[in-house]
Amino acid sequence: SQRHIGIVVGSLRRESFNRRLAQAITGLAPEGWSFEFLEIGALPPYNQDDDAAPAETVRHFKERIAASSAILFVTAEYNRSMPGVLKNAIDHASRPYGKSAWAGKPAGVVGISIGAIGTALAQQHLRTVLAYLDMPTLGQPEVYLQARDGFFDASGAIADAGTQRFVQSWVDAFAAWVERHAAR
Ligand code: FNR
Repeated sequence: SQRHIGIVVGSLRRESFNRRLAQAITGLAPEGWSFEFLEIGALPPYNQDDDAAPAETVRHFKERIAASSAILFVTAEYNRSMPGVLKNAIDHASRPYGKSAWAGKPAGVVGISIGAIGTALAQQHLRTVLAYLDMPTLGQPEVYLQARDGFFDASGAIADAGTQRFVQSWVDAFAAWVERHAAR
């Protein structure tokens, strides 16, 4: 069915592997799915003093989350956790108290890094936060990818056929998860 998926990339880097992974995933999606990158780079550092009068970028971010059937987090790992810019964005949309944009939104978490454990610790920390925010998050399969030269082909797709099949199996599981948990 028609689903609109909001993508949050946990990296602001221009050539981000995670942004490229997110883009590749959009090419593996089921019929009827559309995607939107929910940009986090222009959000100010979160300050609770601003809860009563949030910046326009914050209001827009929360509105686009509300318009999404589900959220796909594609995150880098910084110092064995999620990048601060991602946590900042999550904090923004969780406020003011009782007005979180995240509550009840189905979520998926994937990531790619140059390290051998492929964002496993960042994803684990993120899952703790998403559980608190009451986001039903797909548990299996897990996607921990290690970036190497040539990981993406010239068209932006995942170059290795086996890796592409694996990520496709994740997308299929996420699609079923969204159907089960998205608001009708
Ligand atoms: C990293 N990197 C990294 N990689 C990893 O696997 N585990 C880690 O804990 C860290 N820590 C870390 C901290 C900081 C401050 C930086 C800048 C980088 C390397 C990281 O995987 C690499 O920069 C990726 O390219 C980041 O993902 P994007 O930006 O390509 O999506």
